[in-house]
Amino acid sequence: MKRVAVLASGQGTNLEAILEEIAQGKVAARVVLVISDRERAPALERARRRGIRAMFVDPGLYRSREEYDAAVIGELKEERVELVVLAGFMRLLSPLFIREFPMRVMNIHPALLPSFPGTSGIEDALAYGVKVTGCTVHFVDEGLDTGPVILQEAVPVIQDDTAETLHQRVHAAEYRLYPRAVDLFCRDKLKVEGRRCYIVE
Ligand code: GRF
Repeated sequence: MKRVAVLASGQGTNLEAILEEIAQGKVAARVVLVISDRERAPALERARRRGIRAMFVDPGLYRSREEYDAAVIGELKEERVELVVLAGFMRLLSPLFIREFPMRVMNIHPALLPSFPGTSGIEDALAYGVKVTGCTVHFVDEGLDTGPVILQEAVPVIQDDTAETLHQRVHAAEYRLYPRAVDLFCRDKLKVEGRRCYIVE
């Protein structure tokens, strides 16, 4: 079992989906640590309920992004973490972090990248008027939502969609996709060559 850490700022429903599939034996991972930059993030409570170590690392205590990231890296190394899963983590990671875990940090984005990167993927897709959007699991590189794509799933946009209804449908796809991507990584089935990520047997 690979040792996995999850970084989350908010609700943590993706975290929950991953933990549930691990509990059911469908994902070959062990989540050893959950870190949040928000003290009251429900994600921390979800982890604690399942007996997983959950930590608030306070951004207010550090002078720069690099110093904050160095503190987080320290915690991850202490737990001998092999994969870092970003699940609604609202901070941009510094190059320092990415270099420490090259192709070892995953993120889920609520749009079909490279369309609608950034923090409002759902709203931007709706405002643009696309008929199909979706979600993307990708490795994190030094850019904003630019790393190699691991898995994607398309989600239709319907006439009467609001950001909320669309987000619900995208979320449902995320809960299918993210545990699968984590499982593939943990079984050493992902191979990255340049921008392309292959699933190997
Ligand atoms: C998800 O929609 C994900 O795509 C985005 O942040 C949201 C996190 O939701 N990166 P949750 O905290 O997992 O419920």
